[in-house]
Amino acid sequence: MKTVLSGIRSTGNLHLGNYFGAVKNFVKMQHQNKCYFFIADYHSLTTHPTPQNLHKNVRQVLVEYLAAGLDPELATLYVQSDVPEISELYLLLNMNAYLGELERTTSFKDKARKQPDNLNAGLLTYPVLMAADILIHNSHYVPVGKDQEQHLEMARKFARRFNNMYKCNFFNEPEPYNFGEALIKIPGLDGTGKMGKSEGNGIFLIDEDKTIRKKLMRAVTDQGPTTPNSTPPEPVENLFKIMKIVSDEITYKFFKEQYANCSIRYGDMKKQLAEDLIKLITPLRENIYRINSDNDYIRKVASIGAERARESAGKTLKEVRKIMGFKSF
Ligand code: TYM
Repeated sequence: MKTVLSGIRSTGNLHLGNYFGAVKNFVKMQHQNKCYFFIADYHSLTTHPTPQNLHKNVRQVLVEYLAAGLDPELATLYVQSDVPEISELYLLLNMNAYLGELERTTSFKDKARKQPDNLNAGLLTYPVLMAADILIHNSHYVPVGKDQEQHLEMARKFARRFNNMYKCNFFNEPEPYNFGEALIKIPGLDGTGKMGKSEGNGIFLIDEDKTIRKKLMRAVTDQGPTTPNSTPPEPVENLFKIMKIVSDEITYKFFKEQYANCSIRYGDMKKQLAEDLIKLITPLRENIYRINSDNDYIRKVASIGAERARESAGKTLKEVRKIMGFKSF
């Protein structure tokens, strides 16, 4: 049996990128694997949430994970900060992570550009904490979107380095996972880049029908094709990418052909995509509302998850400490 681990930072509601990149297809893995799905609340601290927002966001991700189909009877669903073993492993791995490689991480360089006033040490060592999340259960597979590929590569490197340094074969080298397919990148509706929580370019699992329609109508396109069989510009290609994942194949092909013969009307395509998104999101949103009102259930899920995650984490940490030479008197 393989150990699978997936995580989402608690910085807001889940969007389509999170859903397709890290949840939807992996729900079925709960049946055959040892699955851990967790909420990365320590990672959210890099942007300094208020105490009220911190808890609200954690709860929201937990609810939306459940709404998306995670079954706490099958998978372990927990909050990162409920498992102190992760922090200890993070500390230990930090001794073995080097400034140069951390500074070269794309996500760090990105933050250095975007938020030079808050370039804290947590951002620098973000990939080490992520490695600790993964290695604490000695995970084999990590379902992630394309944007996390480099972080996964670093987790593999830290695992390998630990094994080499202590001449053991303790840690697995965790693999980014999408059933052998390329990792997914869901684009945003603003024409460039990926869908994100803070970019204002996303469709969220909690969005109402009319919000979805409005967002789609505002999505960036262009004047339309003028030469047959041309390649769509990025914003239009992005809509096709979303359509390919959300709509059925006939619909996707229909609009692709219309694009190819220059008869496409973007308004029709957007309307169709909005309706297909609504079909996908309505049951999820209804689940979110239902689960959200059941405090006892949410509390129970979090507490059982924490207990199970700590049991697994404790075992790993005990071995790591032994390998490194910690001994009690
Ligand atoms: P986060 O919270 O930004 O995203 C959570 C998951 O959703 C995926 N994702 C996407 N996939 C496809 N297209 C998109 N537009 C898109 N946006 C987000 C991400 O790739 C990710 O799988 N650092 C992580 C959280 C984390 C974690 C971990 C993940 C902490 N520790 C250990 C896996 C393993 C993050 O910020 O993801």
